[in-house]
Amino acid sequence: MKPVSPFLELDETARVPVTFDGTPLDLPQGANLAAALLVAGVDVFRHTPVSGAPRAPFCMMGACFECLVEIDGVVRQACMIDVTAGMDIRKAHEDFRGAV
Ligand code: FES
Repeated sequence: MKPVSPFLELDETARVPVTFDGTPLDLPQGANLAAALLVAGVDVFRHTPVSGAPRAPFCMMGACFECLVEIDGVVRQACMIDVTAGMDIRKAHEDFRGAV
């Protein structure tokens, strides 16, 4: 079952498999990763290391860093990345959560 999302897709694009925190997702190939994850129902991309507050994309243009995720072991801004097949995506900095 697809999670409920307030974001709607405008067209049908070829889907490619990725995982987010181990959960398989089919996202539109070449789409903006942050937008595609939001459409797929992902609403927490990371937690802050100090308070543990959940964070999600805000600016969608590479300025706020609220969209940080770990992609294939590298922490990157999801709003600056296109979806490609086989991405292993995880919440960023989960190993630091609650450590401060
Ligand atoms: S949403 Fe602001 S940097 Fe990605």
